[in-house]
Amino acid sequence: MLARWYDQLAGVVRQTRPVTFSRRSLPLWMIALIVFGVLTILGITIGLLVHFLVVESRIYYYSGSFKVLNITYNKNYEKETSPENNHLSKILETKMSDAFEASNIYRQYINSQVIKLVPENNNVIAHIWLMFKAPRAMKRNTKSKIENILYQMLRKNSDFITTDPKSLTLMEISKVAAEKIINTLCGRRARTSATYDKVKGGSSAQEGEWPWQASLKKNGKHYCGASLISERYLVTAAHCFKMTKNPKNYTVSFGTRVSPPYMLHYVQEIIIHENYFYGKHRNDIAIIKLTEKVSFKNDVHRVCLPEATQIFPPGDGVVVTGWGALSYNGEYPVLLQKAPLGIIATNICNAKEAYNGLVEDEMLCAGYLEGNIDACQGDSGGPLVHPNNRNIWYLAGIVSWGLECGKPNKPGVYMRVTSYRSWIASKTGI
Ligand code: ARG
Repeated sequence: MLARWYDQLAGVVRQTRPVTFSRRSLPLWMIALIVFGVLTILGITIGLLVHFLVVESRIYYYSGSFKVLNITYNKNYEKETSPENNHLSKILETKMSDAFEASNIYRQYINSQVIKLVPENNNVIAHIWLMFKAPRAMKRNTKSKIENILYQMLRKNSDFITTDPKSLTLMEISKVAAEKIINTLCGRRARTSATYDKVKGGSSAQEGEWPWQASLKKNGKHYCGASLISERYLVTAAHCFKMTKNPKNYTVSFGTRVSPPYMLHYVQEIIIHENYFYGKHRNDIAIIKLTEKVSFKNDVHRVCLPEATQIFPPGDGVVVTGWGALSYNGEYPVLLQKAPLGIIATNICNAKEAYNGLVEDEMLCAGYLEGNIDACQGDSGGPLVHPNNRNIWYLAGIVSWGLECGKPNKPGVYMRVTSYRSWIASKTGI
């Protein structure tokens, strides 16, 4: 069957094709098709290459340093939460962002920060961290432009500070290295996401938005909030240990989902304020020491502790976060909730129709006198945070008490962290 078919086919071929093969040119349509095909492939290749190299932007990170001259030596510059450090860093950050925003690469500029100040004789070395986006083909060009802009910026001396342009160093660093730098600092976020800047009356948090927030679990069940203040320590409320203070009963987890627990840690020691008495609100603060260090990542790292002298003025915006009830006696969320609040002056909070003198100096009221937005049951021990003028987040309060949740004239009451700053230092060395 197969052989016959082959014979027939061979006959057809013999009939239609001359015995001698003369080189006949291909039909026109076929040439056109081939040319078209080749051109298409070429076009797509060039298009992709152009897109990849010129159109599509990548994010580049840089770290560098420069010298600030004539700064009277003060050890406090080294301390990341000191007013001296913050003041000088803010001036330098404003100088940098002004320079980049006025430059011809303002569209590539994303972020610039001072990450460390190192005093040296009568000078300070400022370590900087930069984030830019640029097409691959412009990578080298972008770096030299950045260097140039910084150099020009350092040449111009403002009223208060003199900077040395010759001291400028700049190098590209990997994304991993760049994020690691941010994650070891307190109160910062590795991603500067637009979705960020925005409990009862709250909304779900984004991943990595509140990386210091922890869930304190009793026998595996969420019980209280807590805030990570170093690799080994957290702060929380003392009343969270009312039932038992055996560390073996507690675990700590992170992330935005309360269950299943993410980055589960065990507790080595619970340090309750020695002048806290169950049933009373005074000194409602405790320290948790973990059995092992937490490895910092984008979505898990520490909040800044304010200095004892730092002031959080009434009216300032703060944020409370937690997995507490969505309303009094209401349901509990799976995703971390955030609620923007305002700081309320203690004398207003102590008014007759409010807490009638129950709020002490070591406490801080935050929320709204009209009610609605508030922390609630299960938020206790969690953070009330305040962003400073550089958008670095400080722990201003610890969720402690309130009459029910979100009631008019009954805002949340928090432990004032500044009042316990030296107590925290005495227990943790931080
Ligand atoms: N004590 C409560 C707890 O154990 C939280 C109190 C906060 N209440 C408030 N209305 N802000 O979780």
